[in-house]
Amino acid sequence: MFTEKLAKLFGNMRRGRAPQYITVPIQSATAQTYALPPDRLPRHVAIIMDGNGRWATRRNLPRSAGHAAGTEALRDIIRASSDWGIEALTIYAFSTENWARSKEEVNALMALLLKYFASEIDELDAQHVCIRILGNIDGLPEAQRAAVKNAMERTSENLGLKLNIALNYGGRAELVRAARALAGKVSAGEYTSEQIDEATLSEELYTHGLPDVDLLIRTSGEQRLSNFLPWQTSYAELVFDKTLWPDFDRACYLRALREFANRSRRFGAVEPSGEEEHA
Ligand code: FPP
Repeated sequence: MFTEKLAKLFGNMRRGRAPQYITVPIQSATAQTYALPPDRLPRHVAIIMDGNGRWATRRNLPRSAGHAAGTEALRDIIRASSDWGIEALTIYAFSTENWARSKEEVNALMALLLKYFASEIDELDAQHVCIRILGNIDGLPEAQRAAVKNAMERTSENLGLKLNIALNYGGRAELVRAARALAGKVSAGEYTSEQIDEATLSEELYTHGLPDVDLLIRTSGEQRLSNFLPWQTSYAELVFDKTLWPDFDRACYLRALREFANRSRRFGAVEPSGEEEHA
């Protein structure tokens, strides 16, 4: 059964491009290797890391402990994305709406952010990860602003995984910001209003230069987008996983990637006749 699936995946591969071989632990003592053909891998994955609070509450821990555990899960998902040849990974770390949480939780998240950049930047740089922050950095406390600017500057030339961290980010605010920038350019005579199109608008988004999101994963069973990348996810495949984010591991990630590989993406067009079913 597994061999058949593997053969079918190989059959679907573009000639001359090697598949990614991915070994993931299934249970504590066993592991399974899968082939993910490169032309069935998403170029850009976005993740809403949901469920930290519930994970902590179930263990009678403060919500901040859930966020700390979520950071551990994040470390391995970033590494897996690098290992598996994903071009861009965008994570929702803190939304503009998250300021409405208790002062205690906001402070804990901000402290975690500082700790994260201090402890991870060497490792991320060594993995050639290029960090970009999506969101209003000026709205962050000074220490956090300095840390994220330093991380972006230090890794800006890196050619590995493009890691985009949405921080103080809101999708509608991002579109308003882009509209204002374009209006300014029209006023300055840089563009005529007729020259404004999808490409010029995309250039004003935090994600300029990145491919659109192919796969959006949300953990914890919630099924909504919560103002995350509304423009960039227009044609994304959505995968909702019941796992709480701190428990989301490589096996869960691979499950989402395999689900993506099996989806038929038509971008509004009809399926080409004779298209093979992807196992
Ligand atoms: C949503 O879960 C999660 C967040 C609002 C924060 C996500 C942050 C991290 C995983 C760690 C910090 C990131 C970096 C880059 C250091 P929730 O708290 O809404 O969970 P709940 O729905 O169970 O309450």
